[in-house]
Amino acid sequence: MSDAAPRTPRVFSGIQPSGNLTLGNYLGALRRFVESQERGVDSVYCVVDMHAITVWQEPEKLRGTIRELAAAFIASGIDPERSILFNQSQVSGHAELAWIFNCVARIGWMYRMTQFKDKAGKNTENSSLGLLAYPSLMAADILLYHATHVPVGEDQKQHIELTRDIAAKFNHDYGVDFFPMPEPVIEGTATRVMSLRDGTKKMSKSDPSDQSRINMTDDADTIAAKIRKARTDPEPLPETWEGLAERPEARNLVNIYAALSGETREAVMAQFAGKAFSVFKPALAEVVVARLAPISGRMRDLLADPAEIDRILGRGAERAAEIADPILARAKEIVGFVQSR
Ligand code: AMP
Ligand code: TRP
Repeated sequence: MSDAAPRTPRVFSGIQPSGNLTLGNYLGALRRFVESQERGVDSVYCVVDMHAITVWQEPEKLRGTIRELAAAFIASGIDPERSILFNQSQVSGHAELAWIFNCVARIGWMYRMTQFKDKAGKNTENSSLGLLAYPSLMAADILLYHATHVPVGEDQKQHIELTRDIAAKFNHDYGVDFFPMPEPVIEGTATRVMSLRDGTKKMSKSDPSDQSRINMTDDADTIAAKIRKARTDPEPLPETWEGLAERPEARNLVNIYAALSGETREAVMAQFAGKAFSVFKPALAEVVVARLAPISGRMRDLLADPAEIDRILGRGAERAAEIADPILARAKEIVGFVQSR
């Protein structure tokens, strides 16, 4: 492992196994991951179970959500042979490098993270130490693979910037050029899916209302009913996309239609110009079901055999470790640890 970090492109991204995967996760994350795999970029995808326990998780439920997320990756088109798919806790280098980074990063950097402020709320003193240190583990996830590109949502941009700060400080403090500066690849607004109840809020797995989101595991009837009840306004659809500027709920539904059908927004507008939502909504439901039903079906099949999912994740972890081990070994050497076994 030389100190001039190899800058060959490598994608790394992680998703927390926290249940209720939504259409937003599919369009904003999973589908984009599949596209990068299809472009032939070396891609590593991680079910970040260690991040999940920064807030309390019921162990039996956590086991279920880890496998469900792994199934969602595969059902969406991640090929565990071409990409690397694994769960974080099975490659111990994540925790080891995170510790080194805990000693490189400053406490003040962590307190400034908006996600920490949001999640800890008023009760900072009583949140887990892991919740505060979380960005340092995320930096380790990325840098353990010398990843160069990190597809994430806008809300994670600050954590990627912190990852760059940690990489730069490590390189500077130890006088090396070892860790690369990873680039965030931020989802465009085109792939942002909004709540079915409020077109100004992101569709989220943590929204208390299940009616606000389409879950990747919803069946056809549930999807149709949720779309039928989705909030809209009384006007028919206008002729152009610009005509939806002040109508966030309508814009969101058209956006979902375009993203899933592969048509441009303009083509969708032309097709439904002047039509009422009573016409558009059933058409949208059909497009969503056509796209999600095969994925949720495949997820159910995969989840029927948890041992097979575990085997796939285990194999992924072995391949991940092959990349991570020499990088971690060199990082330890740079720090001054004695390799005694
Ligand atoms: P989260 O569900 O917030 O843990 O996010 C996991 C991944 O899904 C991230 O890459 C997010 O950017 C993406 N994601 C989550 N919700 C949405 C949404 N409503 N629209 C687009 N992308 C989303
Ligand atoms: N923090 C990210 C989130 O909550 C998940 C994550 C953990 C991640 N490690 C990562 C994303 C490394 C990209 C790269 O969405």
